[in-house]
Order: sequence, then structure tokens, then C-alpha cells
Amino acid sequence: DKHIGILTSGGDSPGLNAAIRAIGKTALDTGRMEVVGFRDGFRGLMENRLLRLERSMLSSILTLGGTILGTSRDKPHKMPVGGEMMDMTEVMCDNYHRHNLDALVCIGGGGTQKNAFRLAERGLTVLTLPKTIDNDVAGTDVTFGFSTAMEIATEAIDRLHSTAHSHHRIIVVEVMGHNAGWLALGAGIASGADVILIPEIPYDREKVARAIRQRQQRGKNFSIVVVAEGALSINEKKTLDKLRQDKEKAKEAKNDRAKKKAQEAYQAFTRQRTTHTLRLSQQLEEMTGLESRLTILGHLQRGGTPSATDRVLATKLGSACVRYIEEGIGGVMVAVRGEGTEPIPLKDVVNRRKVVPLDHCWLESARNVGTFLGD
Ligand code: F6P
Repeated sequence: DKHIGILTSGGDSPGLNAAIRAIGKTALDTGRMEVVGFRDGFRGLMENRLLRLERSMLSSILTLGGTILGTSRDKPHKMPVGGEMMDMTEVMCDNYHRHNLDALVCIGGGGTQKNAFRLAERGLTVLTLPKTIDNDVAGTDVTFGFSTAMEIATEAIDRLHSTAHSHHRIIVVEVMGHNAGWLALGAGIASGADVILIPEIPYDREKVARAIRQRQQRGKNFSIVVVAEGALSINEKKTLDKLRQDKEKAKEAKNDRAKKKAQEAYQAFTRQRTTHTLRLSQQLEEMTGLESRLTILGHLQRGGTPSATDRVLATKLGSACVRYIEEGIGGVMVAVRGEGTEPIPLKDVVNRRKVVPLDHCWLESARNVGTFLGD
């Protein structure tokens, strides 16, 4: 019999349980495989916290949000252990062998792909599935979780539309997405947002205010401004680029103190995301004379039952993954390619993020229907 381990890692995402169910059912149906799940991501692998996934545990989870296995953002090479950051990669490799695993499936986003690759480099048979509401994993057409989050954000923005309209207000709504604009762009287009700001297009605040004023001149005394959490004004982007450069320089100079300082400065800036959005909301109020309110959709976008699209996608990826394991394939991410799936070497996935290309058709469609994109 083959033994398969599964873990879910990184931010949770609708469709995780559908994927676990698909892997489990496909594997158990072969009659030649056993499946265990590690709890709370890589931490469970390190601490040997696992459970055998029996058929009964896979039933009734398809529609559930979150992950029955639990998740964490812990990384194999930087684990907080007893107040210190430790490299626990070796321990995880030992545990893989200790449980006689033939393959480990890591379900996660960009960070998980990197962590999984680390274990694959140590000779473990590792496969990954691409999940994240951000849709920013390289090498796959799409990730599961994205469709659901886009639906939730769209519904929320629809609701904000009517209240913005009644009160003649600007509503600035912050959408997740990390450093990619997929979610803001998709939900913004679907909900008919007047302005959509994404990280890929640094925005000019003056021009955003002008677009809102032009709407006022046409008798539209309200505006919906959808802002991706990673979106920055032109000046903020310059600051970020400088902080990033400093970080790289300090890394190259191998100066630990300078490295730590530069890293902290960079992190402090990126942590202020919501402050940037709040500032934008306040400035738009001053610049247009319209009242402005800020709504942050936050983790609402990740919770609850997955959309039909995500259930289908996660089922397709999960079952394909087991087929690849049967064929002896490892060191890959099971990517979405058109209607099908394809195993993509993990080395081609890591250290790359898929952001919205500036010639993407969604940007063109948004512009064509009169949405202002910040530039
Ligand atoms: O990667 C998914 C995501 O929801 C991002 O959109 C967001 O930046 C981040 O996770 C939030 O992370 P946490 O749940 O750890 O606050």
C-alpha cells in the first residue's frame, strides 16, 4: 500500500475541504492507498500530530469552509520553537520517513509552494495544490478559493452601492489580495465599481479625485472605489521600492544588523496597508467635498462555504494529484491548464508571483466600461 500525507498551510481558503475530500476519496477508492492528515500545516508534520483520514471523515465536508485539518503560516526552516526561530526541516523529513509516507501533498499558496519545495529538495516526494483567494500563484491558470472570495466581495460591494447611492457618498472598500490585484479587479468589474485601484498600477490621488468629480458633474453624487489591500499611490510605491532596495542591499552586504533594520522598516511599511486606504478615503473626502466612508472586507472574504466553481476545481485538482502519485510523479504543483491539469515542476513555481499583467483583458474591459484604474 502507498501512504499519503496531506497538510493545509497558509491562509485558509474556501475549497480546502473539497480538495482534502477529493484526495482522500480518490486514494481510498484505489484500494491500495492510505491517507493521513497533519494538523495545522507544517507544524503538525514537525510535531507528529496527525490523524488517519477514514472514509467517514471525508463525508459531509465538501461544502464546509476552512480546513478540517487546521492551518498555520509556519515554515519548516523558520519555526517558532520555545521562543526561538529554528530550522526544523530535518525533523520534518525524519517524520515523513517515520510514518512511511510515499508522498506528501501540501495544499497552499505561494509561501506553501516554497516550503514544499524545500522538502522536495531534501528528497521527499512532495506534490502541491494551488489554493489562495489571491490567485497569485505562478504556473497555474487559477487557484481555488479565488472564485468564492470574488463572489463574496462582489456581493458586499453590491450592498455598499445602494447605501453609497442613498447618502451621496464615496465608499472606499478595501479588498484582500496581498500584492496582486486579481480579487479587487474581478470583484470591482463584477460590481460595477467606479474606480478600481490595484498594486500593479500605482495611482495618482489627484486623478482619482478628478474621476469622482467628473461623475458629480454628470449628476452622479456617489462613487464606489474598490482598493486592493496592496494598492499604493505613486509616492507610496516609490517609498516601498526604496525600502525594498535597502533590504536587498543589506542582504548582499551580509550585515546582520543592517539587514534586520531594513527588513523591519520594510515590514512596518507593508503592515500599514489599511492606513494607506484610510488616508485615501479621507483625502478623497477633502478633495471632492463628498462624504467618504471606508469598509474593509477582511477575512469575511475567506470564510464560509466554497462556490460551485471552487468545489469543482478543488475536486479536479485533488483527484488528479492522486493519479500523479500513482504514476510516481513528485516535486510538482498540480496546476490548472485550461479545462485540465498539469504537473508543473515546483522549481518553476517558487519565487514567482502571478500579478495582473498590464495588458490583461480584464483591465481593458474595465476601462471600456468607464472604470477609472488610477492612472
Ligand atoms: O493570502 C491570503 C490572504 O487573505 C491575503 O489576501 C491577505 O493579505 C492575508 O492572507 C491575510 O493574512 P492573515 O489571515 O494571516 O491575516
